[in-house]
Amino acid sequence: MRIAVSTGGGDAPGLNAVIRAVVLSAVRRGWTCHGVLRGYESLYARKKDLGPPSGIERRKIAYPHGLKPLGPDEVRGITHLGGTILGTTSRGNPFRYPIATVDGTTQEVDRSDELVAAFRDANLDALVSIGGDGSLRIAYDLWRKGVPVVGVPKTIDNDVEGTEATFGFDTAVSTATDALDKLHSTAESHDRVMVVEVMGRHAGWIALHSGLSGSADVILIPEIPYDLSIVCEKIQAREARGRRFAIVVVAEGARPIHGAPVLLEEAQAGTVARFGGVAALIAAQITKCTGKETRSLVLGHLQRGGSPTTFDRLLALRFGSAAVRAIADGDFGTVVVYQPPVVNRTPLADVIGRTKVVPLGGGVIMTARSLGISFGD
Ligand code: F6P
Repeated sequence: MRIAVSTGGGDAPGLNAVIRAVVLSAVRRGWTCHGVLRGYESLYARKKDLGPPSGIERRKIAYPHGLKPLGPDEVRGITHLGGTILGTTSRGNPFRYPIATVDGTTQEVDRSDELVAAFRDANLDALVSIGGDGSLRIAYDLWRKGVPVVGVPKTIDNDVEGTEATFGFDTAVSTATDALDKLHSTAESHDRVMVVEVMGRHAGWIALHSGLSGSADVILIPEIPYDLSIVCEKIQAREARGRRFAIVVVAEGARPIHGAPVLLEEAQAGTVARFGGVAALIAAQITKCTGKETRSLVLGHLQRGGSPTTFDRLLALRFGSAAVRAIADGDFGTVVVYQPPVVNRTPLADVIGRTKVVPLGGGVIMTARSLGISFGD
């Protein structure tokens, strides 16, 4: 067997651990393994290609077919490393590939046939596609075009349907909680309100888990549209009790009742909308309604970096080896999922296009409410 592994979309701590598990599990079966460089791009990129109109220069493809042979030596000592040794991109979806036109606009074209042909040219028997919702959708579409694919769910946002957890989430929550711990002392020293923006476009998992663990006073998530006057009341009630500071954690996709999320950039051809800026907006509104000095902070891509936690390493290693077992069983068009205590497989079709949002009646929300944390509702 000759298999390939790719990483697509935003990186997440634990990607390298998955790659290592895939490679070592495959090699033990006597298979050969190859890494697809920088998403799927290296598979079908030709030197004459201009590449996506993002200003990113095309990397020199040093390997035939854009595939890097991976053996035990290539994956030695990478379990604890953040990022991905293969590189990744959130652009260049082969089904909606952005091409710059002569008039300066960008058009989307379907280049998936080229990708499938490249896969066949390279004599690959199977592909392990590690990615979030976007990359898993591409994996599903490739499978429908005949490519034998097994998916591995990845995102720090923890919003992939069908799996209790995605690797990277636990690390991101730890990073955010650590930031909240540090912000507490400065907020208290200055009697300030600190508004901290964490990732989570459509689901508030990071905000909820870090906010509860990091003793936030207010947590705002996309699942619960907020009323700013209720947020201000909470801060003023604390003030009345002599607690002259407050910590507000807000997911980047949070929105007010009757309002829309704050975007940095609208979706364009080949890209998705970029969220960001809600913390600064809320901070200004809090100052206005409470008179309190307020500062905002965006944790941003810090949450995607660093060494994966033990939980994320274990999950990633389990996912990688489970993906190889799925290939051995010929169980394609599936994705490995964590359904504690086991790692199972489920059809890609059941996972894509869905978002695992925070259940409003769930235990973590209930715990937060019992502790007096406000959701601005
Ligand atoms: O991995 C998902 C995510 O972290 C989102 O929460 C965030 O909006 C997005 O990635 C940002 O990704 P990038 O800046 O790499 O496009």
